[in-house]
Amino acid sequence: MSELQAKASIRSLAPYRQGQSDIEGVKQPIKLSSNESSYGPSLAAVEAYHSVASTLNRYPDGAQTALREAIAGVHHLDSSRIVCGNGSDELIQLLVRTYVGDGDEAVLSENGFVMCNTHLQAAGATLHIAPEHDYRVNVDEMLSRVTDKTRFCTIANPNNPTGTYLSDSEVRRLHAGLPEHCIFLIDGAYAEYVMKDDFSDGLAMVDEFENVVVSRTFSKIYGLPGLRIGWMLCSEAVTAMVQRVRTPFNTNSAALAAATAAIEDQAYMKHVRDANAESLQSLSKELGDLGIEVIPSVANFYLLRFAPESGKSGSGAAECLLRHNVIPRPAGSSDEYLRITVGTPEENAAVIDALRAYMSD
Ligand SMILES: Cc1ncc(COP(=O)(O)O)c(C=O)c1O
Repeated sequence: MSELQAKASIRSLAPYRQGQSDIEGVKQPIKLSSNESSYGPSLAAVEAYHSVASTLNRYPDGAQTALREAIAGVHHLDSSRIVCGNGSDELIQLLVRTYVGDGDEAVLSENGFVMCNTHLQAAGATLHIAPEHDYRVNVDEMLSRVTDKTRFCTIANPNNPTGTYLSDSEVRRLHAGLPEHCIFLIDGAYAEYVMKDDFSDGLAMVDEFENVVVSRTFSKIYGLPGLRIGWMLCSEAVTAMVQRVRTPFNTNSAALAAATAAIEDQAYMKHVRDANAESLQSLSKELGDLGIEVIPSVANFYLLRFAPESGKSGSGAAECLLRHNVIPRPAGSSDEYLRITVGTPEENAAVIDALRAYMSD
């Protein structure tokens, strides 16, 4: 046995499993496993990406000024409290590294972004996982797990893989039950997709409360996951601390340029958002007509349930989709569920065809 031992908190971690991205023998499968945007990025973002080619011998702007100012302009925020990262994943890790240590406790919901759990466990925290009811984050379940030792609490809003959301008042009720020494992270990876009156992206709460942080990403609606770029809004105090551990060049020049152009193209973002909403609506209807339960989603993916008594299953549906060149993603530990990303109308039609075949089998 080797003398070399990783920390116990790291040895116990399960490695991250990326969504399947290819099918043997299929040149161009329809990849609907990672909640990517089937519409791709704004052309302005692609152009900006190419434009940095002549300056690759220079370090990127470590202060991330242009991107922070562009984000601040669109969302009416204070740019000095925006921190950009190598995907929102890196930002969550930075936040955990800054505020959570051995013996601290964290309260999370049953679903959400799995890397949050990983970063917290790696930091030595004890995790308290609140069950969800009706596929939704349950504020009472979360609050019943809060103790004096709770240093970190997070929800994804909208949630993944359920696609459901918590209203502004529910999010505020959760925050009100947390101690002031607890960071409350609202992971808004899919926030742009939501068009509900009682939803709020939480950015206003960051101005009201020192302990609230909102993380966002360019990986979803902006179609730039390959560049790894995200941002978070923090209070002044949290920004100052996180900036102490952020590596100076954590965001590269191509990502900074493309993301700046992407956020400035709000017309394209709205086009993708509206197309997604329209597709979600017709998919729900068509899948419902096939006898498949669709959990109501406000994001760019949907969770399907195949009741065991129907003789159908998530894995059975997945096999059939794969035979039709569509890659879905298993969801949760139960075989009742399957998560599928909203695609282009043609891709969605392929999903419906495959599942029609499966259900009539
Ligand atoms: C809820 C949620 N949060 C965060 C992320 C991470 O996104 P990023 O690509 O910005 O690291 C994901 C990615 O799938 C996600 O589903």
